Amino acid sequence: MISNKTIILGITGSIAAYKATEIASQLTQAGVEVNVIMTKEAIEFISPVTFRAITGKPVVTEMFDLASEFSIEHISLAKAADIVIIAPATANIIAKLAAGIADGMLCCTVLATKAPVLIAPAMETNMYNNPATQDNLSKLKARNFVIIAPATGRLASGKEGLGRLADINDIIGSIRQVLGRGGDLADKDIVVTAGGTQEPIDPVRYISNRSSGKMGYALAEAARDRGAKVTLITAPTSLPEPVGINVVKVNTAQEMRQAVENAAPQADVLIMAAAVADYRPTKAAKDKIKKVEAGLTLEMECTPDILGSIKGNFIKVGFAAESSNLVENAREKLKQKRLDFIVANDITASDSGFGTDTNQVTIIDHEGKIDDLPLLPKREVADKVLDRVVEFLSKS
Ligand code: C5P
Repeated sequence: MISNKTIILGITGSIAAYKATEIASQLTQAGVEVNVIMTKEAIEFISPVTFRAITGKPVVTEMFDLASEFSIEHISLAKAADIVIIAPATANIIAKLAAGIADGMLCCTVLATKAPVLIAPAMETNMYNNPATQDNLSKLKARNFVIIAPATGRLASGKEGLGRLADINDIIGSIRQVLGRGGDLADKDIVVTAGGTQEPIDPVRYISNRSSGKMGYALAEAARDRGAKVTLITAPTSLPEPVGINVVKVNTAQEMRQAVENAAPQADVLIMAAAVADYRPTKAAKDKIKKVEAGLTLEMECTPDILGSIKGNFIKVGFAAESSNLVENAREKLKQKRLDFIVANDITASDSGFGTDTNQVTIIDHEGKIDDLPLLPKREVADKVLDRVVEFLSKS
């Protein structure tokens, strides 16, 4: 949980400084106390007033006298911070930090804090690739700074290249991951499956389902944010790849089975949130099937039951999407697949199930305990599921 945490957000003089508004906004909305420090150069790009309005807190700029009472107060903030993130970070601030120079409020804060420091570089490709910058980044990494690698894309010069500030989702994801270190799933190896598998009919057509992958991705991210080492085995989805997670992409049920078998031996927990196709065409045509007046009949066969057949020393969690007799059907699956618990989902309920951002589920465990949860955002459902995982892990 990141609410009630205190973050220092350092902003330096890059055109990407405006993107820090989104970081400040998302963190503030998540209940984080965001204290912004801006370098002199940063305020040439964006006004401190903007951050003051977004965070509801005074913004420290390097226009203040370092000897002032305010700066001393700020050093105590450095001590109280749970995390310091500099986004965007210029080559200049990276060089100063690598050299340990106490020049300016931001450098002083980084020197004074014991909290983890994250750096999201943003600069021209040649500056980023320059051995001096790379050496500086290596030095910082060696001192346990977390470097959030820049992306490739349009740069201030108008050219395409490496050096663009990392995607905001990746920055927020990295912050969540670092804040979650030492959480209640620390060092646990958790494998999560997500999305709807695609079973080919021919080179361009497939059979699939309406699964969006949102539930599985929410579980993977929530586990990451509680300290787990997560492998996400995902069928195709339109969701962005989460940071800090080992993502394995698959298409078919057969590929998913292989990926689960590869990951399972070292797993502490397997959560199958994927909507695995139950049937697939017996044969996928090599060439695109032509349209004919007589129509088309497909012969189908069952896909391997991944969850039912996988064995090992891990907590096994399944999902069941049901349109009738929810509890009865879910109980049957729980038994058949020898699960520790199952998360049953009434797909006829509104705003629940496939494609939605919310879910209403019932958790049934192998001792018969039934837990009816209210309609919740999928991320909150994920945390409730993980609460049960923690319970089971403590018993195992
Ligand atoms: O398809 P069914 O309703 O039986 O799915 C229930 C659970 O079994 C889900 O957790 C799903 O991921 C898993 N499953 C599986 N292999 C299949 C079909 C479903 O592991 N072939």
